[in-house]
Amino acid sequence: MSSMILKKRKIGLMGNKGKRKASWIRNTQVMERYMRSAFHQMGNEGLLTSAHNLGHVQRVATYAQAYVSAMGGGKKKQAIAKISGLGHDRFRDAVDSMKQAAEKQKTHEEKSAEHFKPLFEKRFTKKVSSQMVQAIKKHGTLPQLNEVGKNVTRDAVVFADKFFEANGSYIAFRRAMFMGERADWRKVALERNVFNNPEEMKKLAVESTLKESEKRVAAFSDLSKIPTHMHKFVKYQVQWQHKLVEALKVGDKGMTNLVTVLFAEGLKEKPRDLTEMIKFYKPIAESDKAFKEETMRYLNGELAEKFKQLVSQK
Ligand SMILES: [Fe+2]
Ligand SMILES: [Fe+2]
Repeated sequence: MSSMILKKRKIGLMGNKGKRKASWIRNTQVMERYMRSAFHQMGNEGLLTSAHNLGHVQRVATYAQAYVSAMGGGKKKQAIAKISGLGHDRFRDAVDSMKQAAEKQKTHEEKSAEHFKPLFEKRFTKKVSSQMVQAIKKHGTLPQLNEVGKNVTRDAVVFADKFFEANGSYIAFRRAMFMGERADWRKVALERNVFNNPEEMKKLAVESTLKESEKRVAAFSDLSKIPTHMHKFVKYQVQWQHKLVEALKVGDKGMTNLVTVLFAEGLKEKPRDLTEMIKFYKPIAESDKAFKEETMRYLNGELAEKFKQLVSQK
């Protein structure tokens, strides 16, 4: 009986083109349901952070798919990228992965890839599952220029995670809140007793967000390491990070307020949802108003077409 069902399923997966297409849609739906329930459980156990929640992996999946589409990839390739994007941060924790790597600990990239490897191998061909596992395992670092195009799934996940999601206006909100949640900065917050001192809270919010932003901006300022077809798009996204860094350096009122509100929320034992925080954030100046407007457009998916145009092969 069970082998009959298996045979029927196999026909469904390997049958005509229409059926194949439907099975890829089904595969992405299965992955989405899996991540929804896995993250629900992690959330209950207090293991999720605002920066790496279900919304994050869903957006990385959506934009990874958009990238493959912009590169001319068909429905199957788009689905493969979407599934990998959904799974890429399966075991993301509140520890800095650069620090984990430096201390020779297993990073969340490795943990997530190891987790999905046997599951993918059961469902997909060797070639496809290997592409997906590599995309998850290596999503922490940009591919070398000569590697770009060899595994479009990997390119898509890395670019969606690093450029679409982590370089635009949204990063100001996300990073400030994540700094409050990150174990190392929480320790400093306790040492400096920022909880009863709004000025110290403000100082630490700016210090942590600025430090992390400068590190990240430096990594993406050198366009020679980024493929030409991404230049226009990366320039557009990274300019928001430059704006953030410059504003924090000169003590801009609006941006200082933005990072302080989000950082303080991140420090709480049970922070509110990041998207909710952004939605209800009340700008106090032109600078934070511009960040909020662009971020809302991004979260509502209104920038997807613009992004696709910026990511051009020419
Ligand atoms: Fe990650
Ligand atoms: Fe991520």
